[in-house]
Amino acid sequence: MSDTVPGRPRLAGRVALVTGAGQGIGAAVARSLYALGVSVAATDVHGAAVAELAERLAPQAPASGPIAAAAVRAYPLDVTDGRAVEETVDRIERDLGPLGILVNVAGILRTAPAAELTDEDWSRTFAVNTTGVFHTARAVAPRMAARGTGSIVTVASNAAGIPRTGMSAYAASKAAAVMFTKCLGLEYARHGVRCNVVAPGSTDTPMQRSLWTDADAPRRVLDGDLATYRTGIPLARIADPQDIADAVVFLASDQARHITMQDLYVDGGATLR
Ligand SMILES: NC(=O)c1ccc[n+]([C@@H]2O[C@H](COP(=O)([O-])OP(=O)(O)OC[C@H]3O[C@@H](n4cnc5c(N)ncnc54)[C@H](O)[C@@H]3O)[C@@H](O)[C@H]2O)c1
Repeated sequence: MSDTVPGRPRLAGRVALVTGAGQGIGAAVARSLYALGVSVAATDVHGAAVAELAERLAPQAPASGPIAAAAVRAYPLDVTDGRAVEETVDRIERDLGPLGILVNVAGILRTAPAAELTDEDWSRTFAVNTTGVFHTARAVAPRMAARGTGSIVTVASNAAGIPRTGMSAYAASKAAAVMFTKCLGLEYARHGVRCNVVAPGSTDTPMQRSLWTDADAPRRVLDGDLATYRTGIPLARIADPQDIADAVVFLASDQARHITMQDLYVDGGATLR
C-alpha cells in the first residue's frame, strides 16, 4: 500500500541543499521546495544573490543559528572548492538538520567551436558542471546513506544527449555529470538514496538569454535552425524555470520513491527522444 498523498509531493519537514540557487532554475527550485515546507539551504557562488532570495522568500526566518520552522537560509558556496563544500554541508546540517535532498543546479556555459576552446574554457566548464556535482555528492551521499534515505537530483542538460555546435565542452561536461549521477545511484540504491537527472532544454533564464545575440534568436530556438543542425521545440514554447523545478520536486519527493538512475528530459520534445 502506498502512503504517499495523491497529487501532492510529500516533502514537508525535509532539508534541502540547492546549488546555483541565486537565479534562474536554481532559484525556482529553492522557491518550490520552500513552498512545500522544505527548509532550503540556498547556495551560490554569488552570495549576495542567495541572500536576497532568502530575504525575499522567507523574510521572518532568522539568518543564522538553529531554526524552528521551514526556512530559506543563504550560504555562499563555490562548488569547485571541495573543502568549502564539505564545510558548508557540515554547517547546513548543524543549522537546519539532516539533509534529505541535494539538487545540483550550478552550471556555466562557454560557447566556442571545439578547436577554439581555451584550456581555461574547458577546465572551468568541467570544474563547475562535473566536478561540482562530484564534490556535493561526495559530501552529502554518505550522510544520507548513514540515515538510510535521501534524494539527489542533478540538473544536467538535453545537450548531454544530443550533439550541439559550439557547445562541445558544455555538452561533454553535462554528459559526464549524468553518468556520474547514475553510477552514484547504483552504489547508493541499497542505502535508500535515489539519484536522478533532470535534463532541461531551452529555458528562459539569464544563461539562455546570453545566447540570444539578435532579436530573431528566440524564434530560431522554437523553429529550429538547419544551419546548426538543430531541431525546434515540438511543444512550441521555451520552458519557464518553474517547468524544470516541477520535475526536480517530483524526483526529490517520495512520489518518485521507486525511481532512481533516471534521466528526465524536460525540453518540449526538442531532442525527439
Ligand atoms: N537555461 C537553459 O536553457 C538551460 C538548459 C539546459 C540546462 N541548463 C542547466 O540548468 C542549470 C541552471 O541554469 P540557469 O539557466 O538557471 O543558469 P544561470 O546562469 O541563470 O544560473 C546559474 C547559477 O549557477 C551559479 N554558479 C555558477 N558557477 C557556480 C559555482 N562555481 N558554484 C556555485 N554556483 C555557481 C551562478 O551564480 C548562477 O546563479 C545549469 O546547470 C545549466 O547548465 C540550463
